[in-house]
Amino acid sequence: MFPYIIINVAMSINGNISSAHGRYNISTEEDISRVLDLREKVDAVLIGANTVMIDNPLLRKAKKRIILDANFKLNENFHVFDGSVKTYIFSLKNNKINNAETITLNDTSLKNILNKIRGIGINSVLVEGGADVINQFINENIFNEFYIFINPGIVLSGKPLFENVEIKDMEYSILKSDNGILLSIKRIPITR
Ligand SMILES: NC(=O)c1ccc[n+]([C@@H]2O[C@H](COP(=O)([O-])OP(=O)(O)OC[C@H]3O[C@@H](n4cnc5c(N)ncnc54)[C@H](OP(=O)(O)O)[C@@H]3O)[C@@H](O)[C@H]2O)c1
Repeated sequence: MFPYIIINVAMSINGNISSAHGRYNISTEEDISRVLDLREKVDAVLIGANTVMIDNPLLRKAKKRIILDANFKLNENFHVFDGSVKTYIFSLKNNKINNAETITLNDTSLKNILNKIRGIGINSVLVEGGADVINQFINENIFNEFYIFINPGIVLSGKPLFENVEIKDMEYSILKSDNGILLSIKRIPITR
């Protein structure tokens, strides 16, 4: 059985999750407090290596952190390795970083990773990005809750959440619509 998966992402109205210059605040203050509540609800927060490199997030309130870094491009100079909470790196390489435990993979498929996450006693995970990581969950149709906060601003030349896909008949409900729109996604039928 996989852990309970919650995905959360903030997107501009033209579909970007960051600007061409990297980190860009797409969330509002109010939305950030919703995300902090989500972090407190789950056993761990999961992000990809590029998000660590570009955003260098602290992941405040996360009980544990999971970083996917297949080729081990990260080093100890990022906030996620500050030692404040247990941090795992899932990688094909058996390298080490102070303040993190490496879980070595021979298969980077999401299913293998999720089984290993469950194996270390983590029963619920908040997936916070970036696009590469989130799209793997969408492709495998693995999520229990999925929230997209849409900021009604335009972010040019940024990183799109969806690329090379056609999405019709997405099933969703609108949870909020002030200073942005919060969607709860039920199903994403994608075509490539
Ligand atoms: N608006 C938001 O809510 C939000 C949230 C988070 C991030 N972001 C933005 O997203 C951007 C980064 O997104 P991204 O799509 O470039 O990258 P990403 O999803 O953050 O990270 C991708 C990297 O993670 C590693 N990885 C992914 N899947 C893996 C797996 N199954 N097993 C092991 N390693 C795996 C890979 O490392 P290798 O290269 O070694 O294969 C891959 O290059 C940033 O600009 C950031 O600002 C936005």
